[in-house]
Amino acid sequence: MNPTSSLLAGSGTTEKRRISVAQVLVYELRVRDAMTKEPVTAGPTDTMRTIQHLMKTHRFSGVPITQNGCLLGIVTIEDIINALDKGHINEPTERWMARDPVTLRDHYSLVRAVAEFDRYGFGRFPVVDGSDKLVGIITRGDITDCLVHHLERRAEEAVAHEAVLMAERAADEKARRVVVRTQIKSGDFDSAGKVSQRMRQVLRERGIDPDVRRRAAIIAYEAETNIIIHTIGGQITATILPDKVVIDAIDEGPGIENVDLALREGWSTAGPLARELGFGAGMGLPNIKRCSDVFEIKSEMGRGTHLHAEVMLEKARMVA
Ligand SMILES: Nc1ncnc2c1ncn2[C@@H]1O[C@H](COP(=O)(O)OP(=O)(O)OP(=O)(O)O)[C@@H](O)[C@H]1O
Ligand SMILES: [Mg+2]
Repeated sequence: MNPTSSLLAGSGTTEKRRISVAQVLVYELRVRDAMTKEPVTAGPTDTMRTIQHLMKTHRFSGVPITQNGCLLGIVTIEDIINALDKGHINEPTERWMARDPVTLRDHYSLVRAVAEFDRYGFGRFPVVDGSDKLVGIITRGDITDCLVHHLERRAEEAVAHEAVLMAERAADEKARRVVVRTQIKSGDFDSAGKVSQRMRQVLRERGIDPDVRRRAAIIAYEAETNIIIHTIGGQITATILPDKVVIDAIDEGPGIENVDLALREGWSTAGPLARELGFGAGMGLPNIKRCSDVFEIKSEMGRGTHLHAEVMLEKARMVA
């Protein structure tokens, strides 16, 4: 018979997993891990009455009899009942104890201990060390308690280990730099918002503050629509770093004639089509500037415009 199945039988899947861990444990754990150390003992000249009192106070069902640390015998509850029955309760234990009881060695594996319990049908075994000194006493209950205790500890360790792995994975993820880049075609109103959407997804996955996410999204979206409406084409790159999002919008022209003017609220050169589609309020660049922690714009007529904006991830702030 498989010793652990008699100890921890169960039918559910978790139970099955526990048993496989328990099966390993019964081989790894020793009798000394499960036994009660320094058990209460009595001497050969103590009376059976003394043992009866010991059993009553401590609720033991067996007391080893020793001399100078060496095991001589054991007195069990049955012996006490007999002594009471037959009238020798006041006689010394050496007359009535079971001599040379079967013992277990402290270094035996629990699997061997369980086999010995099955073989002899005893309720307990005295445990001796290499020099035959009594070092403990063990019952089936001690074995079960010890296994349950170690299983719980293993389970807790597994949970803690998993948490560490998850934290490491999250840290790796955070440290990774993600680059989202899209080519923007002039007049391609339908594609507006592409970079901004993908960037927001990465930021959301990283658990970035919603205010920071919104600001980065506004910058990317406004820069994208400006390239669609006001240029012959360009590209937007959003680089997500551990501490900030960097957005670069670079186009191929025509360039901004007067950057100061372009940055003024309400200033717009948008044509009728763009206005019909809801653009042209002259609020794009001022909004980008407001949402950025770092904002630079360089433009050269005939060559193009480079807008550079950074949003710091750590400090959230309110947009006015
Ligand atoms: N990349 C660019 N290339 C050339 N001109 C630009 C560029 N970005 C902005 N501009 C000029 O600056 C003006 C102001 O831009 P801003 O984004 O603030 O407003 P808008 O695009 O006109 O309107 P809104 O953004 O409110 O829809 C634009 O009308 C345009 O003349
Ligand atoms: Mg605009």
